[in-house]
Amino acid sequence: MTNRLEGKVAIITGGVGGIGKSVAMLFVQHGAKVIIADVQDDLSQAVCENIGSSEVISYVHCDVTIDSDVQNVVDMAVSKYGRLDIMFGNAGIPSKSDLTILATEYQDFKRVFDVNVFGVFLCAKHATKVMIPAKKGSIVFTASAAFVTRGNAPHAYVASKHAAT
Ligand SMILES: NC(=O)c1ccc[n+]([C@@H]2O[C@H](COP(=O)([O-])OP(=O)(O)OC[C@H]3O[C@@H](n4cnc5c(N)ncnc54)[C@H](O)[C@@H]3O)[C@@H](O)[C@H]2O)c1
Repeated sequence: MTNRLEGKVAIITGGVGGIGKSVAMLFVQHGAKVIIADVQDDLSQAVCENIGSSEVISYVHCDVTIDSDVQNVVDMAVSKYGRLDIMFGNAGIPSKSDLTILATEYQDFKRVFDVNVFGVFLCAKHATKVMIPAKKGSIVFTASAAFVTRGNAPHAYVASKHAAT
């Protein structure tokens, strides 16, 4: 396999979960150094050990809705590896499953927006503090087909993925 990410440093939020873990594995296979940022501390060690050594993959507790947590993981990438090339804002949550607007509750809507929208905003904000001076870097968010298909996912989730896209 070609090492398409040799020398690159990536942060993957939500990297303990399904998609993030698969991406972390692929990035490491391609030569990247990866920091997983997630809130699932209990599963993080097993996930990292399954992917590679502590030289190439590590975990930081980071709630993407908390500004200082996101700042901290970016600082960690810079202090450990001296750079940040990829910010993958992948952490996301579904909303309650009822599809009707009348059943949509403010608290659930807000919870989903805090993670899926405000969370990726903070990822972009803190990543650019490093990437703008470096004049390079990639910021990627996980969206969803739900934002185009509509009608088959709850309002809060669809709206959040629209906002993030
Ligand atoms: N699974 C699907 O079918 C699907 C389809 C389209 C889009 N997505 C999107 O893909 C992304 C990943 O989904 P997945 O299927 O791997 O889900 P998942 O639940 O397996 O993983 C999500 C991860 O995000 C983490 N997370 C949740 N809230 C967080 C927070 N506040 N701070 C940091 N981490 C947090 C969770 O702990 C978990 O590890 C999400 O943004 C989701 O909306 C998923």
